[in-house]
Amino acid sequence: MAGRIRPRRIVVPEVTAAATETSAPAASFVPKARRLRRLLVVSNRLPDLRSPALPDERKRPVGGLVSALQPVLAARDGLWFGWSGRSGPTRLFGMDDASHPALAWIDLPSELVRDYYNGFCNRALWPLLHSFPSRMHFRDDEWTAYVAANEAFADAVSQIVADDAPVWVHDFHLLLAGAALRRRGHRGRIGLFLHVPFPSPDLLATLPWHARVVSDMLRFDLVGFQTPGDLDHFRRAARAVAGCHQRGDVLIGDGVRARTGAFPIGIIPEDIREDASAQTNEEIGALLRTTASTQLVVGVDRLDYTKGIPERLCAVERLLDRSPEWRGKVSVVQVSVPSRAEVPEYAEERRRVEHVVGRINGEFGEAHWTPVRYLYRSYRRSHLAQLYRAADVGLVTPLRDGMNLVAKEFVAAQDPRCPGVLLLSRFAGAAVELRDALLTNPFHVDGLAADLDRALRMDEDERRARHARLLEAVERTNAATWADSFLRALEG
Ligand code: F6P
Repeated sequence: MAGRIRPRRIVVPEVTAAATETSAPAASFVPKARRLRRLLVVSNRLPDLRSPALPDERKRPVGGLVSALQPVLAARDGLWFGWSGRSGPTRLFGMDDASHPALAWIDLPSELVRDYYNGFCNRALWPLLHSFPSRMHFRDDEWTAYVAANEAFADAVSQIVADDAPVWVHDFHLLLAGAALRRRGHRGRIGLFLHVPFPSPDLLATLPWHARVVSDMLRFDLVGFQTPGDLDHFRRAARAVAGCHQRGDVLIGDGVRARTGAFPIGIIPEDIREDASAQTNEEIGALLRTTASTQLVVGVDRLDYTKGIPERLCAVERLLDRSPEWRGKVSVVQVSVPSRAEVPEYAEERRRVEHVVGRINGEFGEAHWTPVRYLYRSYRRSHLAQLYRAADVGLVTPLRDGMNLVAKEFVAAQDPRCPGVLLLSRFAGAAVELRDALLTNPFHVDGLAADLDRALRMDEDERRARHARLLEAVERTNAATWADSFLRALEG
């Protein structure tokens, strides 16, 4: 890349999936950061802006974590540490001080990526935390890899921050990292924010290692969740599994004193507004011309079974079937961003989605009208904002979701004079704040079809009134207030 400063890369000893928590921290192959940062953020995945393993544009991930933390870290001169997304026979360590925010990363051995990321994270924890018991796969070797990966992260982190610096760990990939860092003598505050839901204690108990997971989560000084419901599930699990009692927002137990809270994540609404009202990108313009004579319904998601994509498409099919007056009058654009494609459940979900798209277009399509335009690719956030602004309805109907920032971005992107309607699942964390969306149950195809019909017919006064209240909510808890309130709670 022209002008890019070559990152430093230092080889450290190979770590295998068989490594355990008793393995000694990696020797000091990695120098302490020369400049102490005010904040270290740790997440499994790094932002893509200067990522060492930048994927091609069509496959660029659009994680909520990336869009929420990027501006916050940039403003705070923090360092963001994570897995590079690469795997190889050796574990490498690199740092890019010149990027904004500064990045540091490790590569993980391929068998660790297979068992930790594709395995335990995406086939055990992901379905468990999203309450999809039928998709859970529990394997001892993948649990061992998860423990080893958390230890590998803690090894690297303990070598790049002063031992009294605050560390903010993100998400379900690193639930054991706080305890691992403490074992390495870290004295500074360590916080965990869980971006995904937390399940009820009885479902959590199906995980053979749930007691260890809960007790290690309690080693963080602060554990944050997206919604009060997730928080309540965790507090109940801490009481049941670890014998904790609660005083105010603090869980207290044997050697445990963990503060807990709900910190709903947000966006930067001004950025979305600016992107949405900029001159329309050529590709988005071309797409919009093909749907110009119809009402436009837009869905944008990672291709994940939790997002309820086939379910929402079935509702579109039901609408076209039951209400023929909509045929030729409504177009659905479904952007499905490639995600976790090596995991079998994701490959299967892709087949399901493509099957339903083919069926609807085959059944109802005409030479002049394609009911569903399906795009299996990623777009820049700025281009998506233009698509949201042009939409009459935003279909955000996950079966379960920690928050769902697309819902908030959709609201921020609208023209307040003539806004589109947000049709939002009751089972997205965003529904707690966005009560003025049209709330729907994505498990009920007939109900979702009826709600889509209502959204398409909603008059301008109601759309404007709902949107004004939604925008207020999106502006009230935005990315900056989210990060500030979490860090204040961590440091306070
Ligand atoms: O929302 C949960 C999350 O894991 C984010 O942390 C991440 O950015 C997104 O899903 C995409 O997941 P992955 O990193 O597995 O591609």
